[in-house]
Amino acid sequence: MHIKHHPVLGKRLSETVTFYFQDQPYTAYRGQTVAAALMANGIKKLGLSRKLLQPRGLFCARGRCCSCYMTVNGEDHVRTCLIKVEEGMKVYPNLEDPEVTNDGHGD
Ligand code: FES
Repeated sequence: MHIKHHPVLGKRLSETVTFYFQDQPYTAYRGQTVAAALMANGIKKLGLSRKLLQPRGLFCARGRCCSCYMTVNGEDHVRTCLIKVEEGMKVYPNLEDPEVTNDGHGD
């Protein structure tokens, strides 16, 4: 769901872009963050916690935690609540970190 016309901010979303989550195409609006674009498309599970492998999703939405880490265009551990979606962007969930899972640290 998108708020296309905000009563105070006005019309903010107009130009669409196509991005890929796990190689499936999704539509977003230019200016949205990757995390917001995923939420708007019904994708709430952004990855798994590093040690216990529990589902992670959007938490702080302002770059203060690591809950939204994903792999974006081949770069791991990208905070998707901070970067804007771009045409053709490839996004994958952060599914595990074997080193952390085995060392007794992490969440
Ligand atoms: S949700 Fe906390 S850094 Fe992105």
